[in-house]
Amino acid sequence: MEPFTYYNSELYVEDVPVKQLAEQLGTPLYVYSKAKIVSQWQAYNEAFSGRDHLVCYAVKANPSLAILNLLAGLGSGFDIVSVGELERVLLAGGDPGRVVFSGVGKTAEEMRRALEAGIHCFDVESEQELERLNQVAGGLGRQAPVSLRVNPDVDPETHPYIATGLKESKFGIPIETAASVYHRASKLPNIKLRGIACHIGSQLTSIEPFLDSLERVLDLVGELGDHGISLDELDLGGGLGVTYLDEEPPDPDDFVVALMEQFQSFGSRYQRMKFIIEPGRSIVANAGMLVTRVQYLKSAGERNFAIVDAGMNDLMRPSLYDAWHPIVPVTQTDDGNAVVYDVVGPVCESGDFLGHDRALLLEPGSLVAVLAAGAYGASMGSNYNSRPRPPEVLVDGDSYRVIRRRETFEDMVATETVAT
Ligand code: LLP
Repeated sequence: MEPFTYYNSELYVEDVPVKQLAEQLGTPLYVYSKAKIVSQWQAYNEAFSGRDHLVCYAVKANPSLAILNLLAGLGSGFDIVSVGELERVLLAGGDPGRVVFSGVGKTAEEMRRALEAGIHCFDVESEQELERLNQVAGGLGRQAPVSLRVNPDVDPETHPYIATGLKESKFGIPIETAASVYHRASKLPNIKLRGIACHIGSQLTSIEPFLDSLERVLDLVGELGDHGISLDELDLGGGLGVTYLDEEPPDPDDFVVALMEQFQSFGSRYQRMKFIIEPGRSIVANAGMLVTRVQYLKSAGERNFAIVDAGMNDLMRPSLYDAWHPIVPVTQTDDGNAVVYDVVGPVCESGDFLGHDRALLLEPGSLVAVLAAGAYGASMGSNYNSRPRPPEVLVDGDSYRVIRRRETFEDMVATETVAT
C-alpha cells in the first residue's frame, strides 16, 4: 500500500492532508501512517505462517510508545538494545516473553532488570558477557535464556557505518570461535542455551548476504548438534532495506519466503527450529515523513539554498551517512520553474543538510516533506543547538493522533541545574 499520495495537488497521509497537519501542529513535524506500519508487520508475520516464528520489531528504528503499542496489539515481539527500550516496550503493553535483548555492552543492571521482567532471550555477543550473565542470573536464582550472536563474516554490501557482519566489526562472536563459546555456555549452571543469532547489517537491498549467513549459521548448528549441543531457535536479525532512491529490495514476504526455501533445503534436521527475525527499518521507514517549512531562499556562488525549519538534529541520516531521502512539495504547483536547491537546516554546521541538488519550486513559507523518514529519524533526533524535538503524529484513515507533543524549552532543561 502507498501511504502517501497526492489528491488535487495536495499531499495526503492516508486520508489526511499534510498541509492541515502542518497548519494545526506547526513544523517541523513527523507524520506516520498506521496502515503502512500494520501492513509491513503483517507481511512478515503472514509469510511465516505454519512455522514456529517470532517477528521482533527492532525498537531502535522508532521507539514511539504508540507505535510499540500498535505492534504489541498485533502480537509482535521486540528486539531491544537497552533497558530503556525494555521499559518502553513494557510501558506500551508489549509482552516481555517476546523480547530479545541484543547489543554488545549490556550492563549487569540491565541484565538483572531483563531477567526480572522475564524476557524471551539474551543475544549474547562475547564470552565475557556470557560469564557476567551467568553470574547475574545466579544471583537472582534464575537461568538466563541465551542465544549466542555469531558474526558470520559476510559482506552485507551496505554503508560501512551500518555493516555489522564483517570479521572486523565489534558485533557478535567470530563464527570460527563460536563453537568453543557454546561448549563453555553449555557448562554454565545459570545459562539456558536457546539458539543462535546473527545480524549482518542494515539497509541490505539484496537477499544473497542473508542466504550466505543462513548457510554459515546452519552449518554451525549442525556441527554443534554432532557434539551434543542442540539448539531450538534461529534468529537472523533485521536488516532488510527499503527504497529511498532507486533501490529495489525484496518485499518482506518475498524475503521470508526465500529464507524459508533455503532453510528447508537444509533438510529435516533443522525443521523444528523456531525462526526469529528483527526487522526495524522495513516496518516503519516508508510509513513516515518529516514535514518542514521553508524559511528563506538564498544563493551563494553557484548554489541555491532552501533553508528549512528542520535540521540535522531532527533527521540525522543525511548528515551522518550521506543518506538520500526524497524531498517533495506538500502542495504541487506548476506555476513557475523549478530551481536546484540544497535543502539545509538552521543548525550551525556545514554538514546540516536534508538533501543536495533537489529540483523544487519553492518560495518562503512553502511546505516540503522529507519521505522515508519513519525509521532512524525521530529515534536519532537530538536537542543540538537547543532545538526542541518535533511532535509526532499517527494518522489512521481520516483521523490522527498526536503521539508525542512538541518538546518545550522547559522539557529541554528539566534535568539541569545552575551550579552555585
Ligand atoms: N537487530 C540488530 C541486532 C540490529 O543491530 C539492528 C539494527 C536491527 C535488528 C534492525 O535492523 P533494520 O531492520 O532496521 O535494518 N541508524 C542507521 C541504522 C542502524 C541499524 C543498527 N542496527 C540508519 O539510519 O541507517
